Amino acid sequence: MAKVLAVVGSPRPGGNSDLLTGSFLTGARERGVESVEIIYLNQLNLRPCQGCDGCATDGICIIADDMQEIYRQVQTASGVLLASPIYFEGLSAQAKIFIDRFQCWWQAKYRLHKPFIPADGQRPAFLITVGAREDKECFESIKAVTRTFFLIINYRLTGSLYFGGFDRRGSVKEEQWALQKAYRAGQSFAREMIVGGGS
Ligand SMILES: Cc1cc2nc3c(=O)[nH]c(=O)nc-3n(C[C@H](O)[C@H](O)[C@H](O)COP(=O)(O)O)c2cc1C
Repeated sequence: MAKVLAVVGSPRPGGNSDLLTGSFLTGARERGVESVEIIYLNQLNLRPCQGCDGCATDGICIIADDMQEIYRQVQTASGVLLASPIYFEGLSAQAKIFIDRFQCWWQAKYRLHKPFIPADGQRPAFLITVGAREDKECFESIKAVTRTFFLIINYRLTGSLYFGGFDRRGSVKEEQWALQKAYRAGQSFAREMIVGGGS
């Protein structure tokens, strides 16, 4: 069964990342994705990576917090959406903690040669970012970080969207074109998942 896992890095429920994620998932569902899970990182108990190398021998993170469930969810998903606001020209702290905590999967793949999911390039990933600034100056660096992250965990960043000019909570609702764009991206993503055999 094709499952999209959406990871929301904004602390604002009903905020712009949240609404764009909702539209993206509606589009994906309408194109045949049967299962959708949403993780609101801010609601979880997540510590930043401690760089302790506790994962060096088995690729398993030794921190006992909510990341342990997230590893399982990422392992069983067919596609992943990461949605984050822009904070100081980068990803939100919540999204960055999520990414850094996959250092154990880096160990598993590159040091232990036992990746948690196959390196067959089949599982697509998508990035949605939203910021107050109209220009997308910081978007390229955020994309580069995200692309590298997904490559390390054996997902493939197949697309990304930046929504600029949105600052107030939920202001994206006033611009139907933005929600439509996210919706259409979700539709295309479903096709990639299904064509790529990620179901
Ligand atoms: C701590 C903080 C830092 C921010 N830094 C930026 C920034 O560097 N560039 C930008 O365009 N917007 C910045 N913003 C604005 C948010 O990206 C914007 O409000 C966005 O719509 C929030 O998305 P959300 O509703 O999903 O949380 C910042 C907001 C906060 C709270």
